[in-house]
Amino acid sequence: MMSNSTKSIKKLVAVSLAASAICATSAFASPVIKAYQVNGDIKNIGVESSSWSKAKETEILAYPQTTIHLNDKKANELNDGNKAKKIKVKALTDGQNIAFKIEWADKTESIQSGNAIKNTEFADGFAVQFATKYDDPLKLPYIGMGSQDRPVMVYLQKAVAKLFEPNGNGEVTMQVNRANAPKFEKDLERFDIDVAHLARKSYQKAFVAEGFGSMTEIKDKSSDFLMDMKFKKKLFGGSNWEGSVVRPLNDTYVKIYNDPIPVAFAVWDGDKMNRDGLKHLSTWIIVEFDGVVSDDKLKKEFDKPLENANLKNGEELTKANCSSCHNYGAVHEAASAYMAPNLSNIGGYSTTPYLIESITQPHNVIVPGYNANAHTNFAWYYGDKESGMTSAMPAFDYLSEQEILDIVGYLKTLKAEVE
Ligand code: HEC
Repeated sequence: MMSNSTKSIKKLVAVSLAASAICATSAFASPVIKAYQVNGDIKNIGVESSSWSKAKETEILAYPQTTIHLNDKKANELNDGNKAKKIKVKALTDGQNIAFKIEWADKTESIQSGNAIKNTEFADGFAVQFATKYDDPLKLPYIGMGSQDRPVMVYLQKAVAKLFEPNGNGEVTMQVNRANAPKFEKDLERFDIDVAHLARKSYQKAFVAEGFGSMTEIKDKSSDFLMDMKFKKKLFGGSNWEGSVVRPLNDTYVKIYNDPIPVAFAVWDGDKMNRDGLKHLSTWIIVEFDGVVSDDKLKKEFDKPLENANLKNGEELTKANCSSCHNYGAVHEAASAYMAPNLSNIGGYSTTPYLIESITQPHNVIVPGYNANAHTNFAWYYGDKESGMTSAMPAFDYLSEQEILDIVGYLKTLKAEVE
């Protein structure tokens, strides 16, 4: 027989679930970054520029990317239980260029020395990602480096020491002790110029990508951009990185008009051996142009009402249909870690349209994890780019619209707490 107190606890649980169903919608309202219009050229802007003072700051969240389970015990331990990071973003435009500045907390400054070949040392870093096509909010690129036929453009900077290394081959044995600098005079000057040049070329990069492992660096002049990154110790404890990137509004890869555009941000913590997909990642964030009134198609779709989602039912449907392949929050280790993407933070870095599409049409956007060659037992997809790829995930297109809504509402709650 159920005691009175158990009954009231049950009731409480039901009430709080109902409350969270309501919160769900308001909490999901997308943040919007306003690009502030400035007079004067911002082409050479860095983190220290005074122009930033005019722009309004927007706080966004970046979630630990848990998609792929790394085969690195130490890195996994260091990143276990990671929380979401707050990132403060500002944007500027001068009518020709667009610039972003981001600021995030990091306890330690991890600068990679050598020429980034040593694999025991990892750099702090950040990336800003653009969708090459963004007119259809239902068909945005996959957040982790794009997907086939939905490319992204990524600007990446890593904190790498500018080494005094004369030949550009990464040979550090020829480094010069600064104390002996006077002996080298002109040579030293020449070397410094070379090194500054090499360091910029090597560690501030622009890529076009259609999925992990398909990143193609843009090496010609078709993409003009400038990045900057500075570590700042705060007066009363704590420390921050600041990073900035500026690019033309229009280039061969991404054409930006006055319409709202989606932009995503990622940060890496070198101290936690972050690299590649092991990082903190935001979802697509909307950038609007200050003073321009337009129909924000992105916002309408991103904030598509989930108030009618029954989270409890969503949780049960997810358990019944998805947990044999996917790990996430509560049933953490039920499936093999290599079987399918880990969904523990999927609510943090996915939009509603992406989640609906993932469930009903999994072949459209394939998370390029393991293929049959890499892991015969755990292929995430079959085929290849040439012959076409099919997902190992079945299409759940037989679920009702309401059931899909319930699942998506529940998936939206899967995300780490904020740090
Ligand atoms: C047979 C195993 C299997 C089942 C069952 C399954 N999935 Fe998947 N799922 C996968 C694989 C493999 C991928 C990666 C390939 C791809 O993107 O389609 C994936 C990808 C996803 C993604 C994209 C993940 C990301 O990081 O972007 C989502 C979301 C997802 N599944 C949700 C679900 C939901 C919800 C269910 C249940 C209704 C489900 N899956 C059932 C195997 C499965």
